[in-house]
Order: sequence, then C-alpha cells, then structure tokens
Amino acid sequence: MSATLPRELRLGPLRVETPVVLAPMAGVTNEAYRRLCREQGAGLYVCEMITSRGIVERDETTLRMVAFDPAGPGEGHQEIRSVQLYGTDPVYVAKAAEILCAEYGVAHIDLNFGCPVPKVTRRGGGGVLPWKRRLLAEILEQAVRATEPYGVPVTMKTRKGIDAEHLTYRDAGRIAQESGCAAIALHARTVDQAYSGQADWAAIADLVQHVDIPVLGNGDIWEAADAVRMVEETGAAGVVVGRGCLGRPWLFRDLAAAFAGEQVATLPSLGEVSAMMRRHAELLCRHLGEERGCTELRKHIAWYLKGFTAGGELRNSLALVSSLAALDELLGRLDPEEPFPVATLGTPRGRQGSPRRVVLPEGWLEDTDGTGCAVAEDMHSGG
Ligand SMILES: Cc1cc2nc3c(=O)[nH]c(=O)nc-3n(C[C@H](O)[C@H](O)[C@H](O)COP(=O)(O)O)c2cc1C
Repeated sequence: MSATLPRELRLGPLRVETPVVLAPMAGVTNEAYRRLCREQGAGLYVCEMITSRGIVERDETTLRMVAFDPAGPGEGHQEIRSVQLYGTDPVYVAKAAEILCAEYGVAHIDLNFGCPVPKVTRRGGGGVLPWKRRLLAEILEQAVRATEPYGVPVTMKTRKGIDAEHLTYRDAGRIAQESGCAAIALHARTVDQAYSGQADWAAIADLVQHVDIPVLGNGDIWEAADAVRMVEETGAAGVVVGRGCLGRPWLFRDLAAAFAGEQVATLPSLGEVSAMMRRHAELLCRHLGEERGCTELRKHIAWYLKGFTAGGELRNSLALVSSLAALDELLGRLDPEEPFPVATLGTPRGRQGSPRRVVLPEGWLEDTDGTGCAVAEDMHSGG
C-alpha cells in the first residue's frame, strides 16, 4: 500500500479524522442514516440536499431536514454538522449559508452543482449551472463571504460537465479556488450520463493537476480497496462515497481502516445484517415516529438483502413493513447464519440509469458568463 495515502481531510479550518465523505443523497442521507454510518466509521457525513430558498423563507419541510442527531452518553462522536445547499441565486445562497452557520451551528457547507434531474437542469440549476462561469463565481464568492465570520468552510460538488462537448470541471475548479472554497468534489461523469457508464477517474487526476485546493474524488467506489485505488491513481485528497454504502453502512468501517493502513473487508452474516436493519429502523423511528420511520426503511430493504437468498415473499413483506414489531417478526424469519454473498462485492448498487439528453433553459449554451442571469430559485427540498 502507498505510503502517501492521506490520513485525514482538511477543509479550511475543519479537520476530518479520515478522508472519507458520505455523499449527499436525497431521500437517503437523513439524520438517521448519517448516524448509522457514523457509528461504523469516521468521516464527514453530508445531509440531503436542501434548497437555499427553503431556508431563507423558513419552509417547514426544509427546516425539518436541517436536523442533527445529538450523540447521547456512550454513543460516540458528535456529528460534524454538514449541509448540502442547492441554489442558483447568490443572494439566496449567501443568506441561507449565514442562517445555517448562525442558527444551526453548521460546520461545513457543500454547494450542489451536479444534480442531473431535468426539473433542476431545465431551470439552469445543479449540474448545468457551472456553464455560466461568472454566475458560478458570484454564488461561490458570496457563500464564502457569508460563512467566513463563522470559520465555516464552503465546498462545491460538481460533475465533469454537461456532456462530452461541454466540459466545465476545470473552470469550476479554478473558480472554486479563486472564490475561496476549501475543496471541490468531482463526480467524474457528465450530466448527460446521469449514473450510467463508468466514472472517469482520469478527470479527477486531471483536476488535481489543475488546482491547488483539495480535490475529492467521487464515482464508483464499491469497496474500500476502490477508494484507496482512486486516491493512488488520481492524487485526490479524499473520497466521496454514495451508492456503495447503500444497505452497507459498515463500508465506512472498512474505509476508515483502509486509510489507517489496514485491509479490512467486513462480511456480515445475514444475522448481522438484520441487526443493522433493526438499528436503522430504530433510528428512523426515533426521528420520524414509528409509522414514517418504517415507511422510510422500506426502500433500504432490497439494498440490505442484495445477494442473500431471503425468499421473495419475505422480501415483499419486509418491503411493506409498518411497525417495529412486524419488522422484528419478519427479521426473525431470516437465517442468521447465512454468509455474506461475496459475489456482490465490487458490483454496482443503487441507481444506474441510462444516458439522456440534458434539458436546458432556452439558449443556455450561447454564452458562458451568466452575469446577472436570473435563474428562478427552487423551493422544494429533498427528493
Ligand atoms: C439516491 C441518490 C440521491 C442523490 N442525491 C444527491 C444530492 O442530493 N446531491 C448531490 O450532490 N448528489 C446526489 N447524488 C449523487 C451522489 O452524491 C454521488 O455523486 C453519485 O451517486 C456518484 O457517487 P457513487 O458512485 O459513489 O454513488 C445522489 C445519488 C443517489 C444515488
């Protein structure tokens, strides 16, 4: 193993014990899931994307998502409060960033410039916004200025570009650096690729050469060994892990071990996976109440059971679970001795999708500046 593996991650004044970040994932990385992952490893666990406008206008759904799990006695480390903001208007983004620092004690703010969802790109937001270089700079500069008095670092997360003909990541890296961002995370796909194909780690290596701020590499880390390989191949300062940890929060244990120089591949039996599902359910119910908590757990069931032989009927019942008592009864029917399905190791999980045409605002590609460009702020957080 390389002697040059980073042991920690520095984001401005913030020190993260291991250079591993849980990727923001809408509908997944709520306080319960972040807590579950944190119980396994060290790192930075970013909350689901929330909208700047939702914060500024005190939208109830948005504010409910800005929730952090206080660790009780004997429950390990306190969470580093890390929020991903979505925004297209520098004034809204700056105001939201300030509110998060002043009222919510947030310690890290990431800005989303990677979302490929048509309803977002149609308005010029997410992954297509970096095409407008001046607008991107205005947003980043104002966000950094707003959080500076609080000593809170701002990072940006982006993709390679809109498509192969319209790459933006190099300019985005330069702009992030000039604007005072503490790091840039690159999901090494273009917007039109969505989650299809393979992440192009060479682009991560290229960005590392191009900027002086830390680059966080993202895309297709399925095992801890992939994270080490990505860092070795690209020179990234750390990794951002999304789909690989779906149904496998223990991946963070392996990742922390890997960056501490140990090779660990946790292979839980079905009994241990059941215990993890139970803990996940308990945390969801603690935050959302039993009914909503169980409903939220449903989408995770297939990820947890991937590759195990649990029968179709039992899977279906688990995917409809509505109480902790019912969950216990169903989990009790699984064979606790069944070994981990090693054939699933190193294989993709979660969404993959297929390439698609990017929906852009009229004339979006015609100029690359975007000064004063009015992109309507979205209100809706999550999803
Ligand atoms: C269910 C889901 C929700 C996501 N939501 C967000 C989001 O809100 N903000 C964001 O920047 N990226 C989001 N992403 C993208 C991930 O953060 C990450 O960039 C992407 O999945 C690639 O990393 P991976 O190969 O490790 O999964 C989402 C991905 C998934 C699968």
